[in-house]
Amino acid sequence: MNNAPIGVFDSGVGGLTVAREIMRQIPNERIVYFGDTARVPYGSKSKDIIIKYSRQIIRFLLTENVKAIVIACNTASAFAIETMQQEFDIPIVGVVKPGAKVAAETTKNGRIGLIGTEGTIRSGVYADYIKSFRENTEVIGKACPLFVPLVEEGMLHDEVTDIVANRYLSELKNKDIDTLIMGCTHYPLLRSTVAKIMGEGVNLVNPAYETAIELKNVLTRENIANVCEVDSPSSMYRFYVSDDEDKFKTFANSILPFDITMTQQINIEEY
Ligand code: DGL
Repeated sequence: MNNAPIGVFDSGVGGLTVAREIMRQIPNERIVYFGDTARVPYGSKSKDIIIKYSRQIIRFLLTENVKAIVIACNTASAFAIETMQQEFDIPIVGVVKPGAKVAAETTKNGRIGLIGTEGTIRSGVYADYIKSFRENTEVIGKACPLFVPLVEEGMLHDEVTDIVANRYLSELKNKDIDTLIMGCTHYPLLRSTVAKIMGEGVNLVNPAYETAIELKNVLTRENIANVCEVDSPSSMYRFYVSDDEDKFKTFANSILPFDITMTQQINIEEY
């Protein structure tokens, strides 16, 4: 059991920012990653659909004998984690609660900005968690839907991205926030752009970092952490997608510290 992999899933490539953080912080854990590249984006879809997709993906990951699940997608964490935790008898960690916790701990003035997909902002789940960790906070949300395609097009340092980011973030600039949650898998890849616009007085929170810590704590608490030696990445990590593998591989190889060789396409609708 302790040698079994962690199942990590996302609507597509973005969750690799979370997988990357898990690989960095808990290098001796195996990972089976699933990217739902055929049905991305999740950010504009309804709660019911996201619950259905999450259920199918967890059923698939269980066939890979995973010992715990990480919902790397913010939208799926916001909409589906409670239902999934009720339905499946396996530890399930999402990105929203750890991200909310660190934001609540970071803010001094209680004014927190949140950027994410339409679904994540609409759900209000980040604000609910933040208030459960610290009363008297105000969460000011702003959906930034164009960030996802800009990142996927590789336009991380581009004048078009600067213009879009300035437009989105201008709404948050005069709100006196001292903390900003990058509440979408893709946004940490735009960190320098966001930091430049928001200025030094605003702390940026990347929920992926805290999620890896939370996962490590859960594995220890459940006594299922892997204590064996580390192998090479090719045997430690497996990648599955629901659509064409090539685009996924190109993106993965641009952000992971090693090149992935094997990615397998599966029919997720069968699960
Ligand atoms: N992975 C999604 C999230 O973190 C962003 C991409 C999408 O909309 O599917 O919310």
